[in-house]
Amino acid sequence: MMHYQGEPVVAKVAAEFGIPYTLSTLGTTSIEDLAAIAPDTRKWFQLYLWRDKTTRYELVERAAAAGYEAIMLTVDTVVGGMRVRDVENGLTIPPQLTLKTMADMAKYPKWWGNLLTTKPLEFASLKSTGGTVAELMNSVFDPSITMKDVEWLKVNWPGKLIVKGVQNVNDAAMLANAGVDAVVLSNHGGRQLDRSVVPLELLPSVKTAISGTNAQLFIDGGALSGSDIVGGIGLGADAVLVGRAYLYGIMAGGEAGVRRAAQILQGEVEQTMRLMGITSLDQLTPDMVRFRGQAKS
Ligand SMILES: Cc1cc2nc3c(=O)[nH]c(=O)nc-3n(C[C@H](O)[C@H](O)[C@H](O)COP(=O)(O)O)c2cc1C
Repeated sequence: MMHYQGEPVVAKVAAEFGIPYTLSTLGTTSIEDLAAIAPDTRKWFQLYLWRDKTTRYELVERAAAAGYEAIMLTVDTVVGGMRVRDVENGLTIPPQLTLKTMADMAKYPKWWGNLLTTKPLEFASLKSTGGTVAELMNSVFDPSITMKDVEWLKVNWPGKLIVKGVQNVNDAAMLANAGVDAVVLSNHGGRQLDRSVVPLELLPSVKTAISGTNAQLFIDGGALSGSDIVGGIGLGADAVLVGRAYLYGIMAGGEAGVRRAAQILQGEVEQTMRLMGITSLDQLTPDMVRFRGQAKS
């Protein structure tokens, strides 16, 4: 929806920068197509648990058959968030043509031209039902997800298991103790419960809570500059995930825009490290990072 070139160019740029790319269950490129187009990319598959057990198993089996390295199970989406702006703006798949979208169309003829002359948008890995994303979530996603589902994946999925959307210390500890390979502190960028906790503020206590386990700790939410990434690592994350930062890049310039976004982030990480006087991310310690308003110790 951001750009007609879609997921394949993001996966391609990820490979150039040596970072993994996560394809969404709701992607507009299928599991198999992305694997064929981006053989050199470290591919992770983001899984939404389906109510229908057959579809649920099929997605996992397809990701395994296509050689994905990890499944990232998202657990903050048992029902869709309010997302009133999606409804107001006609943000559906395919996009709704209302008077307002027509007026927008006039402002971005190139985007519409590309949209209308390339393969129609669809949830490529699914048998799509159409409608807004929230409607789709409510009709097909399983709201009764529990630790049993995580345990099922641990047994049935051959690769690494990452759980995304963790929003409190106890859940993080429970998952780490259950043997997941990583937890992602995330509030879905505020798109689900829009007054939920800020992941970065949870980071230090979660780090302490899972320190005796083998689980890695990832975080996302609002990382828009390299210094945000350095801050997350400094507070104890093993990796900082980015979503909107590259989406802005792809909207501005397709493949070249994603590459530029990655270059900017990489350059800013390096420059922040130079300015802080460190030569390796291992040298970052929590006392080097301070929350706004927090007294300096
Ligand atoms: C347009 C858009 C689509 C998203 N789709 C998904 C998705 O399909 N699955 C998922 O787990 N998270 C999804 N997210 C949430 C992001 O993965 C991420 O958690 C959130 O945007 C916060 O990171 P950011 O601030 O770097 O974007 C989506 C976010 C955006 C903005």
